[in-house]
Amino acid sequence: MSYRFSQRTGWDVRESGFAAAIREARAAGRRLIDLTVSNSTVCGFEYDADAILRPLADAKALVYDPDPRGMRSARGAVAGYYADHEANVDPASIVLTTSTSEGYGYLFRLLCDAGDEVLVGQPSYPLFDFLADLEDVRLKSYPLFYDHGWWIDFAGLEKRIGSRTKAIVVVNPNNPTGHATGAGERERLEEICVRHGLALIVDEVFLDYPLEEGARLTSFSGGSHPVLTFVLSGMSKIAGLPQMKVGWVVGMGPEVVRREAMERLEVIADTFLSMNAPVQGALAGWLAGRRAIQEQILRRVRGNLRVALESGVEVLKAEAGWSAILRLPQRSGEKDAATRLLEEAGVVVHPGSFYGIGEAGRVVVSLLGGEVDFRAGMTEIERVMRVPR
Ligand SMILES: Cc1ncc(COP(=O)(O)O)c(C=O)c1O
Repeated sequence: MSYRFSQRTGWDVRESGFAAAIREARAAGRRLIDLTVSNSTVCGFEYDADAILRPLADAKALVYDPDPRGMRSARGAVAGYYADHEANVDPASIVLTTSTSEGYGYLFRLLCDAGDEVLVGQPSYPLFDFLADLEDVRLKSYPLFYDHGWWIDFAGLEKRIGSRTKAIVVVNPNNPTGHATGAGERERLEEICVRHGLALIVDEVFLDYPLEEGARLTSFSGGSHPVLTFVLSGMSKIAGLPQMKVGWVVGMGPEVVRREAMERLEVIADTFLSMNAPVQGALAGWLAGRRAIQEQILRRVRGNLRVALESGVEVLKAEAGWSAILRLPQRSGEKDAATRLLEEAGVVVHPGSFYGIGEAGRVVVSLLGGEVDFRAGMTEIERVMRVPR
């Protein structure tokens, strides 16, 4: 029997040639060096199991007392996180979600009718396409360009704003480029949003991971907010706890519009009431303990970045995050760099195209994996790319 499913779910879910090649290599018993690992729970970090799990058994969670925005005490803890970033966030402006991804879903529903557009920087994180499809939102990319560091192409961005555009997404710092939005860029983004009546959505999941020792990144939650602004973050990256499924949206902006946005968001959240009681009860403690895991992750990603920089392979400048982009030699007619690395060295990296990087020879490596594998992988990449062909 044939059935007509929604067009929005008509994705091409066939395995890519690259994914098939990885699967076949593994099936043939080949040992691969995987430089794409981004799951912090399997990278050898020491989690305080008792501190993380004990609060989940608190008997208070036996009572069902839902608040659409999330438990007040949990929202207070999130406001405390922003106070540590020199931002004064009112807990009433926070809506808890089960992930940043769910936060995007809520915002797309809040801001967009079917067919409306949201602008997203490119290169960027590939999940956006699916999140937008599910809400019948059209994503349009605006260019980020590399010139001794990453920059927003503001002329390119403005050219893409049309009558259906509702919001601009900024990932600060961006994944995978590691570009942190500077104060001047923030001012220009806000000025553009004011002029075109757009909202600003700022994803700050990697805010606590500057790659330079001693550096600190600035959150959009601080300062003044001339436009409707939503800051998204969550425990996946902040505390290395993706399995706990906690994220949030913070709403800011001119008072009248901010209040209306929060009232509408509350109705969206009330429709799902997706947060469970045990994790909300545990959230304050997890946030308080975040630095123990952040310090381990920072040591790992900074150490692996140093290895990459010393490897002889060209690494694009990145300010923050858990990944690095390599610029590898690529001649025309040659197989793409990621395929060559897999075939010739058993090293798995993400092709740049996975993140919407158009230029040939760019691959993305995760800096999160163990040091021994990372060093071995970079040595192999340097070897394969050095061999004259
Ligand atoms: C930029 C960015 N935003 C959001 C997410 C997803 O976070 P969550 O687990 O909270 O949905 C990721 C995951 O890698 C990400 O890279």
